[in-house]
Amino acid sequence: MIIIITPPEMFSGELTVPGDKSITHRALLLGAISRGITEVSGFLDADDIRSTIQCLRSLGVRITMRAGKLLITGHGMKLRKPLKELDAGNSGTTARLLLGILAGQPFQSILTGDHSLKKRPMKRVVEPLQKMGASFEDDLDKLPLTVTGGNLAPIEYKTPRASAQIKSALLLAGLYADGETIVEEPYPSRNHTELMLEQFGAEIETEECRVILKGKPTLKGKQVTVPGDISAAAFIMVAAAIIPGSEVLIRNVGINPLRSGIIDVLTNMGANLEIRDESIWGKEPVTDIVIRGGKELKGVTVGGEMIPRLIDEIPALAVAAAVARGKTVINDADELRVKESDRISVLAEQFKKLGAKITEKEDGMIVEGGTGLTGTDVDSCGDHRLAMALAVAGLVAEGETAVKNAEVINVSFPGFMSALRSLIMK
Ligand code: S3P
Repeated sequence: MIIIITPPEMFSGELTVPGDKSITHRALLLGAISRGITEVSGFLDADDIRSTIQCLRSLGVRITMRAGKLLITGHGMKLRKPLKELDAGNSGTTARLLLGILAGQPFQSILTGDHSLKKRPMKRVVEPLQKMGASFEDDLDKLPLTVTGGNLAPIEYKTPRASAQIKSALLLAGLYADGETIVEEPYPSRNHTELMLEQFGAEIETEECRVILKGKPTLKGKQVTVPGDISAAAFIMVAAAIIPGSEVLIRNVGINPLRSGIIDVLTNMGANLEIRDESIWGKEPVTDIVIRGGKELKGVTVGGEMIPRLIDEIPALAVAAAVARGKTVINDADELRVKESDRISVLAEQFKKLGAKITEKEDGMIVEGGTGLTGTDVDSCGDHRLAMALAVAGLVAEGETAVKNAEVINVSFPGFMSALRSLIMK
């Protein structure tokens, strides 16, 4: 699919964004291994989530949709041996978190994924899961992987990188081990797993960068209301910030402090952002956000602890950086090279076609902003967040921008184009 974007005369209105992807995955996975029913409202209905649902169904879990809610009938900690390969599709979260649960199952399963996921590193979870007692076959770093689980021992593990996927895989495996599993990371990564585990009845404690989980809890199904995904909202926030005269209200966005780095960085760049009516859903903070365009943005330097707080928002941030006055430097973000695409090189390559001045660094990029963008043919290269970033850039690029292979947007934000259309008033 090709989408064609031209600069709008106006960009305003209010909307909600789809449910948070990370939280929806976790509600499904925890619901599956709990006792009783888990009812999820406001969930994300997108390809990555369908991958998790398919995998769990193959493991014997009953999942239905009724009145706009997902109903998961908990299977308890022990799942059913799958009759065929489990396919995580494009979803790294599905693959890595599920490996944690499969490590606890006393049977063999095979996990695979699509072309992009098969290239992504898995050793980061396989190695510590092996230490806990799970065994793996084939290339230990890449899907497809054959895992035989059961009889896990707890682990105390220091991860070399701040990654919620590694931490969550180990915590999920830790549920199957007698005793305390401890995961320590260099900086705190998103803590949705910890917050939800506590809600479902696990004993879990967090001390700065360490999480301590007591194994073998009895997990009980819960009602979960999923906040709007800040990673989806980021594209709308940046679009509003760079279009003069815009005013957009985004309702019910999750602003967990370990996810809300994009709000801090856009504010530092000078964007006019207002946070309104904060509340708590379950254990997750939620807010309405108002963004008004027209303020000149200035370049910033981002790195260190901030990176895990906005790792998925860097493609959106790159658009703001291309429009801003001065230089934006993104450091310490080498993880971008192993996302759905090599986001550093693909982003630089595609944005350059639009006239942006971007230099790749091994661990990030330098964007010389304010050069002006001109519409042309660009390609998502199979990456949903790049497709949306390029579309947002098209809103301020002179002439017409055509984004090829844009169907991948369905991985995380199927209503993205209708959301943009609803805000464009001609
Ligand atoms: C996610 C964690 C992050 C993020 C990904 C979703 C999660 O990955 O980039 O999109 O739901 O746990 P890493 O843990 O690999 O940094």
